Amino acid sequence: MIIKKDFLVIGSGIAGLTFALKASQFGSVAIVSKDKLAESATLYAQGGIASVMTDDDSFELHASDTIESGRGLCREDVVRIICREGPSHVRELINLGVKFTRRGEDYHLSREGGHSRDRILHANDLTGQEIERAMIEAINSKKNITVFPHHMLIDFITRGRLDSRVEPGSAKDEALGAYTLDVNTKQVKTFLSKITLLASGGAGKVYLYTSNPDTATGDGIAAAYRAGTKIANMEFIQFHPTCLYHPQAKSFLISETVRGEGGILRLKNGRTFMETYHPLGCLAPRDIVARAIDHEMKKSGDDCVYLDITHMKGYQIRERFPNIYQTCLQFGFDMVNKPIPVVPAAHYTCGGVLVDLNGQTNIRHLFASGEVCYSGLHGANRLASNSLLEGLVLSNRAVAKAALLLKSGSFNNINPDDIPSWDCGNAVDSDESVVVSHNWDEIRRIMWNYVGIVRSNKRLHRAERRIQLLLNEIKEYYWNFTITKNTLELRNIALTAHLIIMSALQRKESRGLHFTLDYPETDSDWKKDTVLQDTTRRMVNQTSLKTTSHE
Ligand code: SIN
Repeated sequence: MIIKKDFLVIGSGIAGLTFALKASQFGSVAIVSKDKLAESATLYAQGGIASVMTDDDSFELHASDTIESGRGLCREDVVRIICREGPSHVRELINLGVKFTRRGEDYHLSREGGHSRDRILHANDLTGQEIERAMIEAINSKKNITVFPHHMLIDFITRGRLDSRVEPGSAKDEALGAYTLDVNTKQVKTFLSKITLLASGGAGKVYLYTSNPDTATGDGIAAAYRAGTKIANMEFIQFHPTCLYHPQAKSFLISETVRGEGGILRLKNGRTFMETYHPLGCLAPRDIVARAIDHEMKKSGDDCVYLDITHMKGYQIRERFPNIYQTCLQFGFDMVNKPIPVVPAAHYTCGGVLVDLNGQTNIRHLFASGEVCYSGLHGANRLASNSLLEGLVLSNRAVAKAALLLKSGSFNNINPDDIPSWDCGNAVDSDESVVVSHNWDEIRRIMWNYVGIVRSNKRLHRAERRIQLLLNEIKEYYWNFTITKNTLELRNIALTAHLIIMSALQRKESRGLHFTLDYPETDSDWKKDTVLQDTTRRMVNQTSLKTTSHE
């Protein structure tokens, strides 16, 4: 089945929906979402969206906080543009109907680690949910946007894959669309588009413990890499310092805004410790807080540390953090009276598909925005609440650029007859699904144990040897059995794990979120990005298995 639209949007968080809404002014749009439309990392964002909103703040201050947090790797032009263009797009969100929390006439602005001003707009602790609600309402009112929920990206269709004269990932390569799996019917659908935006989010599920939703399996990063895009700085995985410690809580996030409201980190014996690690104490940048907690837990042998917000009055906590309060209570922790047990967990993929100031990748007509991309905003460590902002601004810029391309006639006009339809060849249904669940679990444990907050050459090499074995096994499995959501996700987390390890092995220093015992200092020679690219011409279709060499 072939679906042809002007714009194909893969992902339905703030980056995808912003692009879709604006692009619908210029043509027809398909939104492909792996789960129900609202399901995305945006939906779970608690803290909020950083934006300069008051006279005692400035773009320069927001930019310098971002650059300080990014430890020398931010692209300063990108940082300045995103900080400067943020507030007007935030106002558009407000006009769309997003209700940020107010205190009287003014918006209530909170603070998180690394920010020198209160500048985080939020909807109590359900910011992402409120943004998704308002944006989806707007999407539903647009006639030329068609939504395809429960459709998963399999692979991009590119000129480089179809035409042997075009080198994959070269200046001549271009995106033509994508193959997707309809998760409910198991049917493969082919989307053809003039312009494609990838906004499928990050890869937290590569790790055993993560604050991310189940959908965060690095699908976009892996598919873009297979297509020949450049992937930058994958070693920078942000671990959020405070996720609820409870076997059933699935690393539920305890927002940094709890520390912004004066929450204090304590050891089991009640002693505070952050003051010995950083002058900003509990509000130090995230890499420092996560590493400090990891260090203290290893020193004491304790399973967690504690976050104490008991200085706030009960009604204040219930009003400011209704979701966190209720969830903690459900697990038996009353944060009004007692500190909450917390541990770090994988939270944000700072690296990703390398894009320019307009979200353009190195493959023509393929844009990327949000957590899936690396624009240079976050550098080696993302400043809290800058991610919704990045998705919002970059997607607006990407639409503007895409509209210019359409106007100038610079887009592919592929004939659907030239696209090979998906054929599963001799693949059969698997009767060994245990392979998928076993490998999935193994990858996540390897990554947590060897490629986590503190790394070393030995741990990284050990991890890579094991991931290579799994990649080979998964490759065989992928081509022999009918694809399912689980096999696609497994293939993607394995490849994303490999990209994280390869980038971490390249960087022979410690910087921001990448800390290795073998090179504990920051090295100015390494003030540069790690970039991976694979230009092997890969088959995308199971039919060609018998005739083409493939990865
Ligand atoms: C939080 O609320 O702590 C998360 C905010 C973010 O990761 O930007």
